[in-house]
Amino acid sequence: MAEVEKRIEALRRVIRYHAYLYHVLDSPEISDAEYDALMRELEELERAHPELLTPDSPTQRVGAPPVEAFGEVEHRVPMLSLDNAFDEEELRAWEKRIRRLLDEKFEYVLEPKVDGLAISLAYEEGVLVQGSTRGDGFRGEDVTLNLRTVPSIPLRIPVHGDLEPPRLLEVRGEVYMPLDLFQEMNRRREKEGEKTFANPRNAAAGSVRQLDSSITASRPLSIWVYGVGRFEGAQLTTQWQALEYLRALGFKVSPDISLHDNLDDVIAEINQWVEKRESWNYEADGMVVKVNSFERQERLGVVGRAPRWAIAYKFPAEEGVTRVLDIRVNVGRTGTLNPYAVLEPVQVGGVTISKATLHNFDDLRRKDIRVGDTVVIKRAGDVIPQVVRPLEELRTGEERFFEAPGRCPACGEPVERSPDEVAVYCLNPSCPAQLVRNVEYFASQAAMDIDGFGSRQAQKFVELGLIKDLADLYYLKPDDLLPLEGYAEKSVENLLASIEASKKQPLWRLVTGLGIKHVGSTVAQFLTRHYASLKELMAAGQAELEAIEGLGPHTAGSIVRYFSQERNRKLIEKLRKAGVRMTRLAEEAEALRGPLAGLTFVITGTLPTMSREEATRFIEEQGGKVTGSLSRNTDYLLVGADPGGTKYDRAQELGIALVDEDGLRGMVET
Ligand code: IVH
Repeated sequence: MAEVEKRIEALRRVIRYHAYLYHVLDSPEISDAEYDALMRELEELERAHPELLTPDSPTQRVGAPPVEAFGEVEHRVPMLSLDNAFDEEELRAWEKRIRRLLDEKFEYVLEPKVDGLAISLAYEEGVLVQGSTRGDGFRGEDVTLNLRTVPSIPLRIPVHGDLEPPRLLEVRGEVYMPLDLFQEMNRRREKEGEKTFANPRNAAAGSVRQLDSSITASRPLSIWVYGVGRFEGAQLTTQWQALEYLRALGFKVSPDISLHDNLDDVIAEINQWVEKRESWNYEADGMVVKVNSFERQERLGVVGRAPRWAIAYKFPAEEGVTRVLDIRVNVGRTGTLNPYAVLEPVQVGGVTISKATLHNFDDLRRKDIRVGDTVVIKRAGDVIPQVVRPLEELRTGEERFFEAPGRCPACGEPVERSPDEVAVYCLNPSCPAQLVRNVEYFASQAAMDIDGFGSRQAQKFVELGLIKDLADLYYLKPDDLLPLEGYAEKSVENLLASIEASKKQPLWRLVTGLGIKHVGSTVAQFLTRHYASLKELMAAGQAELEAIEGLGPHTAGSIVRYFSQERNRKLIEKLRKAGVRMTRLAEEAEALRGPLAGLTFVITGTLPTMSREEATRFIEEQGGKVTGSLSRNTDYLLVGADPGGTKYDRAQELGIALVDEDGLRGMVET
C-alpha cells in the first residue's frame, strides 16, 4: 500500500509541475503524450484506490455535477475598483493628490490591466478551498467548481519547490481568454452554427459563470494574478514582494510588471507598452499604477469604492470609425483571393489605419459592408485591423455593393470557387500576383535562400517586368537595378552576388524552390536522395515515384504533371543555362533528420485550418521549434490568413522568411 501511495504522490507532484511549466510558464518540457500517460497512470491508480483520492489531485479539476445556483461569498477584504486616468496629465494630477498625504519618496508598481473577469481564490494550508467572482466588491458568487477547471489556477500551493504553504492566502486576479484561443474558439463555434462571442472579455466572463462546470472546462481560460487579499502566515509588506511571492508559489504573474521610484519612469514605461502591447496574447485596456508599500497604501486609504493608492491608465481606444473608400482584392501565393477595405485614414490606438481585412467574400456578404459605408474598425492583438460592422443608420443610399470578382484582379483569368470552402482561387499559373509569391518562395530560406531578396524585391521586380519567370532572377544585370530607387552600387553588387551564390545550392533547394504542389523541402530531400540529378527526376514516372518511401500518389502525380508541362521544362532549361546546379551534392544522398530540424518558427495571425496549438505540434513533430517572439534566430514567421501587427512588420524588418499554412505543409509534405 505504502508503495502505491508513494507512487500516487510522486505522480501528482510531477504532473503538477509539468502542468505548471505548460500553463503558467508556457515552456513545457515533456510532450503532450508523455503528460497524458502520467495522467492516465494516476487516474488508474486512483480508481483502484479511491481511498487515496484527494480534492487537490490533478485529476480532480473536472467532473462535478452542475449546480442549481451559485452560493454567495463575502469578501472580507473588499475587491475594489479603480479610478481611471486617460492621459499623462491625469496621472500627474493623481500623484499630486497623493503627495498631499504622502510627502516622502515612494515607489510604484506598474502592471498590465487585463480585460477579463476579476476573481478571488482562497487557499487554506496551501489547498484551494474557494474561488469567487468580484460581484459588487463585497459579495461575489461562489464559482469554485468552475475555477478549479482553469489549468493555470493551482489546486495546491506551492506548485513546486519547498516554500511553506501559507496558513491562509487570498489571491486576486483576472481570468481571461487568450486572444488566439478566443479566435479559434469563435471560428469553431461559427462552423458548428453556435453563437460566437463578441469579445474575449465576454467569453471569459460567460465561461466562469456557468452552472455546469464541464462547460467552463471546455473553454480556453487562463489567469493573471495581480494581488493578495487576506493573508496569514506570510510576511508581505509591498506589492512587489507580494507579486514575487505569488510567482514563487506557482501563480501566473505577468512578466511585464515593473518597479519604479518616480512617476516619470512609470510614464516612460507606459508609453513603451502603448506600442508593444500588441505582443500580448490578451486584451488589456490599460495599465495599473500602484503605490508599492502596503503601509503607505493603508495611509492613503479608499475613497468610495476605489483606492487612492492605485489608478488605471487607459490605453487609447482600439476601435475607430471611418469610411470605406474602396474594396479591393489581393492574391496569395496559392492563388486565394482576399478582399480588403481601403479606408479613410484614421488613428486607432495610436496607429494610423488605412486598410483593414474583410477576411473572405462570405464574411463580407454576411456583414454587408459596402463601398462608401461608415464602419467600425478594430485592432485586436497582433491581428491586422478588421472591419467590425457598418453603421447602417449613416447610409445615404449612395453606397455600392461589392461583388466577388469572377476574374482574378491580377491577371484577369477566371477564378474558381471550391464548393466546400469559403476561398476563391485564381488558377492561372502565370498570374503575376502568384509569380510574386513564387519568386519570393524560390528565394526564401526554405528554398534557394537568397540573402537580401524578399517579398519587397519580388514585388518590385515582377511589377517592373524584370522578372517574368523564376529563371529571370539569374538574368538580372546591374544595369537593370541601378536606375531603381534605393539600389546603390554596393547593394546591387551584394544582391547579385547572393543570387550568383545560390546557383551552387544543394539540389533539394532547387527542387523545393520550383514550387511543385505537395513538394516542400522534405519531399524535395526524399527526392534528391533517390535521384542524382534533376534530369533523372524529370524522367521518373508515376509508379516509380510512388514507390519511393514517404511519397503518396498525390505528390507523385503532381511531380509528373509539373515536369510534363512545356513551360516548366523551358523554365528548367533556362535555369540550367544560367548555371544553376542540377545535380546533387554527395551529402544529399544521406539520411534525413526531421524535415524542420534546426528551424525556429513564430506564429502570427489566424491560420486557415490549424489552431496555434496544432501548428506548434505539427512543427515540433517535424523536428522544428516554435517560440513566442521574433528574434534574429527566428527562421520563419508562420502567417495566418490575416497577417499583420508588430510581428509581421518586425519579421520584414529582420528579413525573416514568411510562410503560410500551405507553405508549412509543403515544407514537410510526404
Ligand atoms: S488592482 C484595489 N490590478 O481592473 C485595486 N486590477 O477596475 C483593485 N484588473 O476589478 C484591482 N488587471 O478586474 C488590479 N493588474 C491589475 C488588474 C486589475 C485587471 C481589473 C480588475 C479590477 C478592475 C478595476
